[in-house]
Amino acid sequence: MAIRNILKYPEKSLSQPSVTVDVIDDEIKQLIQDMGETMFDDAGVGLAAPQVGINQRILVYDAHATDPEAREDIKEIIALINPEIIATQGSFISEDEGCLSVVEYRANVKRYEKVTVKALDMDGKQIQFEAEGILSVIMQHEIDHLDGVLFIDRISPLKRAMYKKKRLKELKKENEDT
Ligand code: NI
Repeated sequence: MAIRNILKYPEKSLSQPSVTVDVIDDEIKQLIQDMGETMFDDAGVGLAAPQVGINQRILVYDAHATDPEAREDIKEIIALINPEIIATQGSFISEDEGCLSVVEYRANVKRYEKVTVKALDMDGKQIQFEAEGILSVIMQHEIDHLDGVLFIDRISPLKRAMYKKKRLKELKKENEDT
């Protein structure tokens, strides 16, 4: 197991769509374990493979994301391979959404209230389930990553431009300091 480096916006590969996984081999299983460890290390509730530089359609999320008390004690992940949203229902504002790849920024994002997800589990078995509340947001946010979409792509162009400007300025300053 190893903690992997999380790529940060404006890293180009974060904006590229990921490819479908054909075979769930040992390398993929290792990647999934590492993604879980990396996610918990950075206190995230979800992580997509492109965030660690692997543009393949894999995501992991905290199995206890909806239960803050259990979250503290039990570090357990669920992995989804080739996940797809096959149905949606309603909409709501996901407040203060953030991302481990988008440094120091949070925003309200319009999301579907409920989604139906189809995917393969780690054993390659086809699964399907409905997600609502925080789990619904995690599904939409992480599957977006697999399509090269970040949550800042879903906010107003003006807000996005302001964030981009701030981030580039910070990066420039970091480079000057080192
Ligand atoms: Ni994210």
